[in-house]
Amino acid sequence: MNLQKIMTGDGTFTLFNKEYGETYHSTSGALEERQKKFVQPLNLARYNPAKVLDICFGLGYNAAVCMDAYLRERPNGFLHIVALEKDETVCHLMKQMELPLPSYQLLQKLSLADRELRTPHLYLTLTFGDATETLAELHELFHAVLLDPFSPKKNPAMWSLPFFEEIFAHMEPGGMLTTYSCAGIVRRNMKEAGFKVMDGPSVGRRSPSTIAAKPYIYKEKQKWQEHAADIY
Ligand SMILES: C[S@@+](CC[C@H](N)C(=O)[O-])C[C@H]1O[C@@H](n2cnc3c(N)ncnc32)[C@H](O)[C@@H]1O
Repeated sequence: MNLQKIMTGDGTFTLFNKEYGETYHSTSGALEERQKKFVQPLNLARYNPAKVLDICFGLGYNAAVCMDAYLRERPNGFLHIVALEKDETVCHLMKQMELPLPSYQLLQKLSLADRELRTPHLYLTLTFGDATETLAELHELFHAVLLDPFSPKKNPAMWSLPFFEEIFAHMEPGGMLTTYSCAGIVRRNMKEAGFKVMDGPSVGRRSPSTIAAKPYIYKEKQKWQEHAADIY
């Protein structure tokens, strides 16, 4: 088996992926990391409806923590999550994981055949495929993006300038993206794509996570500008 279940510092479980040599969540505390690094900085409750893009859905921890945080603060609000994931196998393992959140039990009811979950206050869709391709097919804008691939060394395309430009184009002005990496190349690509980049909380290590905001006023990159260097 390529995936091994291990307990993290806060008593919640993660998986170790032998092919990538990486875990799906921080070993200091899988749930704590999701709450502090990914979801709390987004302050989702300010939106109703709130539209969230969950890139690299994996075991669905980020989605469950979003549901938990949003619906606790806005019990009558409406949360729409669009989740993208490449590997169907990992999603099948969701049923074998436990996360001490009622929203995770709800998410475990997600039918992988239908790839959607609907309640009066939530609509979640899951699309399988390479996110660098599936994102380009979406024609909607999001208030918040959770970006959670494997590390830049193992998953470089997911941290590349063209992918950040695609994400930027799918965000509402004022929207925010959260991710665990603070690598120089990641932040440079974010800035180049038009984001304002800030330190996010550090959880389980000294280095910060990253928050990237789409400014309210930004310069639309024209296609011709991308190729101008070739022409002149
Ligand atoms: C760190 S784990 C994500 C954990 C997940 N966010 C959670 O909360 O449980 C990384 C995930 O990225 C997915 N992934 C890697 N490359 C991808 C790609 N090109 N497109 C979509 N998903 C990808 C992997 O299959 C894996 O599930």
